[in-house]
Amino acid sequence: MTAFRRKIVAGNWKMNLDRPKAVELAASVVARAAEAGTTELVLCPPAVYVEAVGSAVAKSVVALGGQNMHDKASGAFTGEIAPAMLVDLGCRYVILGHSERRTLFGETDAFVNAKTKAALAAGLVPIVCVGETLEEREAGRTGEVVAGQVRGSLAGMPAGDLAKVVIAYEPVWAIGTGKVATPQQAQEVHALIRTLLGELASPAVAAGIRIQYGGSVKPDNAADLAVQPDIDGALVGGASLKADDFLGIARAFGQPATVT
Ligand code: 13P
Repeated sequence: MTAFRRKIVAGNWKMNLDRPKAVELAASVVARAAEAGTTELVLCPPAVYVEAVGSAVAKSVVALGGQNMHDKASGAFTGEIAPAMLVDLGCRYVILGHSERRTLFGETDAFVNAKTKAALAAGLVPIVCVGETLEEREAGRTGEVVAGQVRGSLAGMPAGDLAKVVIAYEPVWAIGTGKVATPQQAQEVHALIRTLLGELASPAVAAGIRIQYGGSVKPDNAADLAVQPDIDGALVGGASLKADDFLGIARAFGQPATVT
């Protein structure tokens, strides 16, 4: 079975930068996008800067994404953002179920599942995040926890829809800590996720789904992650705030596409 998976490196800017700095960073990534080679680039600014960054990346190869959204189309949901609103601003992607959303804002697998379906219905590509805590890893529960999140977040979805999602494996203990998972640790979980996707959809569909790694990815550790057969890109926090670092990571993934 062969599958082409274009590598995808997304910058999750989280709650950082201000408007001028966001636009400047986006403009710099656009100007240097060729450095990423074959890697697809996505920028996910804070919601209030999505429009400004959207203008900066317009007509470029750099895609735009939201960091979160609500599953409902409209209504009395103060402070929330509807899927169509992100589409309106030119977003192609949306990060869903980030561990910070899950742990700090109480998002459940069921809510992430509703959002994932709503994103697809609106024409957005969801980047669905999963990952275990340090406590769970040390208790030997990584596989069980990640599998549970994948099953819960993607429940009730036909294979045709599953084929459109991007998964991000982000071990919570590696996020913002400087403690990157070893390439072997990451590969092991990515392979497990792909096997599970094969059960939920089909092995052929699973072979085409992109699975990003996230958690302290930097230019100097990206190359070792990039050569792993089931790591199809990175979801980058801190290092995405500097064009040099972000593009350095993208370059590491911009090798000839993996064939499995
Ligand atoms: P860091 O790259 O800062 O560890 O953040 C990872 C992350 O949470 C991306 O979504």
